[in-house]
Amino acid sequence: MSKMEYARELARESIIEIQSVSKTFRDFKALNDVSLNIEKGTIFGLLGPNGAGKSTLIHILSCQTRPSSGSVYISGLDVVSDKKDVLSIIGVVPQENSFYDELTVAENLRYFGSLYGVAVIDIKKRTHRILDMLQITEKKDSRASTLSGGMKTRLNIACALIHKPEVLILDEPSVGLDPVSRRALWDTIREVNSEGTTILITTHYMEEADLLSDRILIMHRGNIVVEGTPEDLKKTVGERIIQITCTPGNYSPITSQLEALEGVGSCEVNEERLKITLTDEQALEHVIETVEASGNHITNIESNRPSLENVFIHFAREEWH
Ligand SMILES: Nc1ncnc2c1ncn2[C@@H]1O[C@H](COP(=O)(O)OP(=O)(O)OP(=O)(O)O)[C@@H](O)[C@H]1O
Ligand SMILES: [Mg+2]
Repeated sequence: MSKMEYARELARESIIEIQSVSKTFRDFKALNDVSLNIEKGTIFGLLGPNGAGKSTLIHILSCQTRPSSGSVYISGLDVVSDKKDVLSIIGVVPQENSFYDELTVAENLRYFGSLYGVAVIDIKKRTHRILDMLQITEKKDSRASTLSGGMKTRLNIACALIHKPEVLILDEPSVGLDPVSRRALWDTIREVNSEGTTILITTHYMEEADLLSDRILIMHRGNIVVEGTPEDLKKTVGERIIQITCTPGNYSPITSQLEALEGVGSCEVNEERLKITLTDEQALEHVIETVEASGNHITNIESNRPSLENVFIHFAREEWH
């Protein structure tokens, strides 16, 4: 077994290994000692506010920029010293379209296929398969410049898939897509994943991250804030989010009283309603007693499990100030 084969054998489980990666631009630290393993065959969601370092990390993973310190291995290959081999096993869908406007859809795929050294016969087969999966077969001979925005996104993805990559990296692929196209994109991502491709995706759409990702990482200012399954992350916020509407709705005197109750995480007044996070659902009974005892009459109670959006906002408030 060659050294490279051995390294790839070791990487069977964690296909992406990010070890203490920092990236500094002049004196600005865009990534600060980031370590992360991504398991083979999973869909991994990378989240964080603007400027968190998501694209910087993706640029490092896709060999477009080198880490200032630390190492990254993809399928056991070093993104710096084994760059050529890494590029042959990853597909990157950058935020800006990478295809050529003046070429047709099929010509673009032929171009990217040859760039990756895919045999002509395989390019033909894959083109057929990919266009079918992305539902743009009918645009095969159309010039890329004439495609609609959503179709351009699909072509951008198609170009990244032509060489059958082991890892597909997508940087905010759903920006500008209508709700139907967005769902079609999710189906495509799932389908590519079901064929064994590991997916790394960044997005600002929490619903999208929640629905697609096996695991999620939230970053902020180059640091990892939290990592886990969507369910794990939601548990960090609490069990339930309760919204209570009252008449007369005189809430200010009781918010701190409610916050002091066992099983209550936080309490705030939100659009003339009380918004209470319960860390223990049993606390609801005491919440109701406290509210009623204050002279407020409850007219409505809404109860929801935390969404990923709640998680994001929770960490935004807790950690980002
Ligand atoms: N080439 C560069 N030179 C200087 N600073 C840079 C460079 N590239 C990125 N940065 C800075 O690094 C930080 C992280 O940028 P990055 O593009 O990785 O953020 P992001 O998480 O992708 O944000 P967004 O959600 O807006 O796409 C930002 O403050 C950015 O200005
Ligand atoms: Mg970005």
